[in-house]
Amino acid sequence: MVAVVRSLMVLLLAQVLLEGATGLIPEVGRRKYSESGKQTPEQSESFLNEFELRLLNMFGLRRRPTPSKQAVVPQYMLDLYRMHSANGDHSTKRPKSMGKHADRAASKANTIRSFHHEEAMEALASLKGKTTQQFYFNLTSIPDEELITSAELRIYRDQVMGAAALNTNSKNSSTSDSGPAGGFHRINIFEIFGAPATHGGEPLVRLLDTRLVQDSLSRWESFDVSPAVSQWTSGKGHNHGFMVEVLHPEEGEKNGEHAQRRSRHVRVSRSLHQDQDSWPQARPLLVTYGHDGRGDSVLHTREKRQAALRKQRRKQQHKASCKRHALYVDFSDVGWNEWIVAPPGYHAFYCHGECPFPLADHLNSTNHAIVQTLVNSVNSNIPRACCVPTDLSPISLLYLDEYEKVILKNYQDMVVEGCGCR
Ligand SMILES: *[C@@H]1O[C@H](CO)[C@@H](O)[C@H](O)[C@H]1NC(C)=O
Ligand SMILES: *[C@@H]1O[C@H](CO)[C@@H](O)[C@H](O)[C@H]1NC(C)=O
Ligand SMILES: *[C@@H]1O[C@H](CO)[C@@H](O)[C@H](O)[C@H]1NC(C)=O
Repeated sequence: MVAVVRSLMVLLLAQVLLEGATGLIPEVGRRKYSESGKQTPEQSESFLNEFELRLLNMFGLRRRPTPSKQAVVPQYMLDLYRMHSANGDHSTKRPKSMGKHADRAASKANTIRSFHHEEAMEALASLKGKTTQQFYFNLTSIPDEELITSAELRIYRDQVMGAAALNTNSKNSSTSDSGPAGGFHRINIFEIFGAPATHGGEPLVRLLDTRLVQDSLSRWESFDVSPAVSQWTSGKGHNHGFMVEVLHPEEGEKNGEHAQRRSRHVRVSRSLHQDQDSWPQARPLLVTYGHDGRGDSVLHTREKRQAALRKQRRKQQHKASCKRHALYVDFSDVGWNEWIVAPPGYHAFYCHGECPFPLADHLNSTNHAIVQTLVNSVNSNIPRACCVPTDLSPISLLYLDEYEKVILKNYQDMVVEGCGCR
């Protein structure tokens, strides 16, 4: 019963269907809708507006997001979506760059958000064989009720070509020149928790994560920044941003110029790179994993759905009796494809059919429904039990919010898995 009340969408959809509209979400002005003949265009428009408002509300949004054409959907979010999505390609492998950390984090989260830093607020310094970059990620779009369980800062680095040549002061030492035996550099990630004591001095920082990386590889590095982000979002600490430090231990102070050149291979600032085209997909990314206290984790969506589908297949359905019917919700019908990145639509299904006396076992009814059906057989003033969803499952949506932040979120009770007479 509770599930039925909560599944506002399914109820509304079923209503639309029973009223005879052909599409799930009828388009305003389209003939196919006006042909249904039950509502005037004004009525259907206000119904649609109401419907959309309710759905957005259910999604925790105040209005329909209208992202610009420049909005960038990070590849990592698409990979996460494919991995966790119930509708996704089941053969999808886990992204190569994805750390164990993210896997574990996602198993507890139902909302994954991604952020780019505010470039107007970055501060870059390069001296004595090290480069420091201060970042600020604006996290104010995370709602208060969302508990951040973990966060990762992802930084891309390019392979350093002829890495070892830089070590030997440009002398041509072909022996150590090539191959994977290049140099190393260290990447340190700090939380900034206070302003510097003197103007232009280094800020007060605390080390969050560190890694020694090989120059000869191009790949994403993921750093655990959970302690800082969960403090900021829970209001226990103020967000002063992160500081990233790139160190070249074997070069030291005497070779600052080379150090700087090498820092360009760690993508921390647009200003350090010639290759501006790749910047939107190679810039640093902060990814938060959170839970708003509602429903399953993103990871469990797919497992639950598959289990339910197996269960469903085992059941033989009778012809006109209460059962599940196909119903595809196409987001482009209401123009939602502008802000919902994936999926383009989904199979929502609906329940319809007779609940005849006597109720068969597979109709998954309650004692009450059996009694009501029994009474109906002798007194037709009492209606039969109703064919309703008895089992619903969630879906994952990848979408852009009103601040153009990319979010992967799990929504409860979106898909009918089983019907029954209640
Ligand atoms: C963070 O984003 C919000 C919403 O866009 C904005 O109101 C606020 O000023 C931003 N804060 C900073 C420090 O940029
Ligand atoms: C440097 O070494 C490369 C092979 O690694 C060689 O082709 C090149 O001619 C050398 N250059 C000089 C100036 O010795
Ligand atoms: C039947 O009802 C039970 C109890 O509500 C529910 O847990 C189960 O998922 C239902 N099964 C189907 C196939 O609808």
